[in-house]
Amino acid sequence: MNDKDPFLPETKYWQDPKEPYSHYYRWVWEYFAYLSLLCEIKRESRILELGCSHGRTSRALLQYLWNPGYYRGLDVDKEQVDEASRRITSIVPDFKYIHADIYNRHYNPSGVKSASEFEFPFENETFDCVYAASVFTHLLPGELENYLGQTGRVLAPGGKILFSFFVLDRYQGKGTCISPNYEFDHLYNNMDGVKVKDPDYPDNAIAYSEHRIREYAEKANLEVTRIINGLWSNNPGHALNEQDLVLMQLKT
Ligand SMILES: C[S@@+](CC[C@H](N)C(=O)[O-])C[C@H]1O[C@@H](n2cnc3c(N)ncnc32)[C@H](O)[C@@H]1O
Repeated sequence: MNDKDPFLPETKYWQDPKEPYSHYYRWVWEYFAYLSLLCEIKRESRILELGCSHGRTSRALLQYLWNPGYYRGLDVDKEQVDEASRRITSIVPDFKYIHADIYNRHYNPSGVKSASEFEFPFENETFDCVYAASVFTHLLPGELENYLGQTGRVLAPGGKILFSFFVLDRYQGKGTCISPNYEFDHLYNNMDGVKVKDPDYPDNAIAYSEHRIREYAEKANLEVTRIINGLWSNNPGHALNEQDLVLMQLKT
């Protein structure tokens, strides 16, 4: 526990233990701004985060949400959600971090369930907002399809969705991105509109074309309302987060 901020995890739990504090906190405040400005969350909102890890992006919500509002985070990494529960839920019981025992090569190699069949452990129409930061950039097509279906199921009428993606249409070719890790030159399983950085490890980084995202959203009874360019693809014009932000809602 850090004596200046009891909610700050030890750096060994960070995505990269060597990352500077400024990078860690950038995510906290960026996502709070996206949720309040783009998803118009209220202090009473019921919020679900997919891929919450140690609860970084929930940090700013701790001072924002109040009863009957609450936060639920879901992640496949048991060590991280257990740590977040010890550090945060013990002080703020309305914030709960839940382990999904899904197989993941990196984060949960002993997991028994499949992300393409996993049922979110929540009732229908429970949440006013569902978001995920840098999670759909690792989900394969069957997993994406199921996660959108589950999101549509647990989202309450009028609810908002914010998921970060690499939108393939934004990719301008080798050597153009802010990092070579974001070069999507290989079709995934010959699927039009789905490309990966490394065909041997497709979940390292995956990009979906806008038409694929819209198609999967449609199947889940969702509609894409806005796509905001990210910095990753080095396109001119407006950009916000490092990844592209895709906003959705239930189909009207
Ligand atoms: C790049 S990290 C981002 C972590 C977190 N969103 C943040 O901003 O600090 C991706 C996270 O997604 C989680 N994850 C991967 N596959 C998942 C799945 N199928 N369901 C839920 N979480 C998953 C990983 O365990 C990891 O914590």
